Amino acid sequence: MEGFIRALPKVELHLHIEGTLAPEMMYEMAKRNQVTLPYQTVADVRAAYEFSDLPSFFSLYNLGISVLRTEQDFYDLTWAYLECCKNDHVLHTEISFDPQLHTRRGVAFATVVNGILRALQAGYSTLGISNRLIMCFQRDLSEQDALETLQQAMPYKDKIIAVGLDSSEQENPLEKFTQVFEMARQAGFLTVAHAGEYGPVANIWSAIEQLQVSRVDHGIRCTDDDELVEHLVSSRTPLTVCPLSNVKLGVFSKMSEHNIAALLERGVCVTINSDDPAYCGGYMTDNFMAVANAFKLSKPEMAKFSWNAIEASFLIPDEKTALQ
Ligand code: ADE
Ligand code: ZN
Repeated sequence: MEGFIRALPKVELHLHIEGTLAPEMMYEMAKRNQVTLPYQTVADVRAAYEFSDLPSFFSLYNLGISVLRTEQDFYDLTWAYLECCKNDHVLHTEISFDPQLHTRRGVAFATVVNGILRALQAGYSTLGISNRLIMCFQRDLSEQDALETLQQAMPYKDKIIAVGLDSSEQENPLEKFTQVFEMARQAGFLTVAHAGEYGPVANIWSAIEQLQVSRVDHGIRCTDDDELVEHLVSSRTPLTVCPLSNVKLGVFSKMSEHNIAALLERGVCVTINSDDPAYCGGYMTDNFMAVANAFKLSKPEMAKFSWNAIEASFLIPDEKTALQ
């Protein structure tokens, strides 16, 4: 099975580029940008990655982000991720970035997006990895902040396929963003949203009904509501599930308790993704392996995750056919 999974063509749909910052890169970029971290050595940084819940994850995540300053930093970050994709046989990736994490500390929107786009272009021309770019709003910030961010994205409309919504579901109802999402859709962006990771099933319904998402990020809480599961199956609304992230962040206590195999069995268009791979225990192959080991799924069942991801991707039909 391991050889089969390594060689299996993969498509990633739920990946935060900021979540690919490995301890070594955090340490090196801190040095080159003269950012002071509360760690003396790479080993100290690595030890800090041993968090176990969402709040401690977010505090390390925000600290890590402080080392990203220049366009070259965003290029290097994205390029390193694309090299991991090559290694994992990921043929197509749809990466998210969170501009507000950077603009609020004085890094220009253009610095972030141009660094990422330049690396994506190089990844396509030299590694053959196709891509789409998704811009996430943070649900813990205001509607006004999201509106301003949408305005900043307008000049890049042809380079950003969709807007998304992330950060903590607790105390941050997504209905606050209905109008921003409506404006984004009118401007031609597709929409996705994190919902039902920690938060209740109602958040998934709201993502579908209010934000009119093309797919739900995480969505694993859907199994609390049979009617919702039936809706996901009949509408072919995909879930971008992140197995290792869910275990690392305590959504499930261990992989064998994850509901991804049950979702596949019930006919949901469920996919495997890495979310924040540098922080959550691994990239695409690691996630596929973790699922295969926990559930003893067959090769065709494991391959189904890739078929689903091709279907759920934002590629145009001809590009999808080329991957099949
Ligand atoms: N941003 C990065 N990782 C996230 C996660 N697991 N949940 C919500 N927002 C995130
Ligand atoms: Zn995520």
